[in-house]
Amino acid sequence: MKERTLVLMKPDAISKKLTGIIIDRLEHLGLDIKGAKVRVMTEELAREHYSNLAGQPFLPGVISFMRGDFNGISDHRIYAFVFEGEDAIAKVRGALGATDPAKAEPWSIRGAFGCFKDGVMQNCVHASGSKEDAQREINLWFKPEEIV
Ligand code: TYD
Repeated sequence: MKERTLVLMKPDAISKKLTGIIIDRLEHLGLDIKGAKVRVMTEELAREHYSNLAGQPFLPGVISFMRGDFNGISDHRIYAFVFEGEDAIAKVRGALGATDPAKAEPWSIRGAFGCFKDGVMQNCVHASGSKEDAQREINLWFKPEEIV
């Protein structure tokens, strides 16, 4: 079934100049980019995006990491994409690998490029985990007219 999924390039992927190779891998899953933008990750946006993690002890570290502060990055850039295609949600999650880069297959995106530093998983890319998450996250990050 044709689906849309939200993909975010996190600050570690941006600073390591990995975004091109990651987009290449996702495009080769047979998916199309339907939306793309650079957006400032405010504290408010980070909390809304990770509202499912409210109350988790690691959330402050995740927010600091997602804003770039954790790695001393001050521009707070995130690259956001809407990818579309057959079974896009599961395909992208499969290509990413496990949340923890140490547990991800070495050839997966997170396994190849991610790391664990000072208690925070630096796993390069976010992708929606379910249809419900995809709908909520795409609405949070994109206006309808920005998806072509
Ligand atoms: P989660 O939504 O559970 O995973 P995923 O990104 O695979 O959908 O968690 C969001 C982010 O929080 C995850 O990418 C990395 C970070 N995180 C930690 O730093 N420590 C943890 O124990 C967990 C579960 C997540």
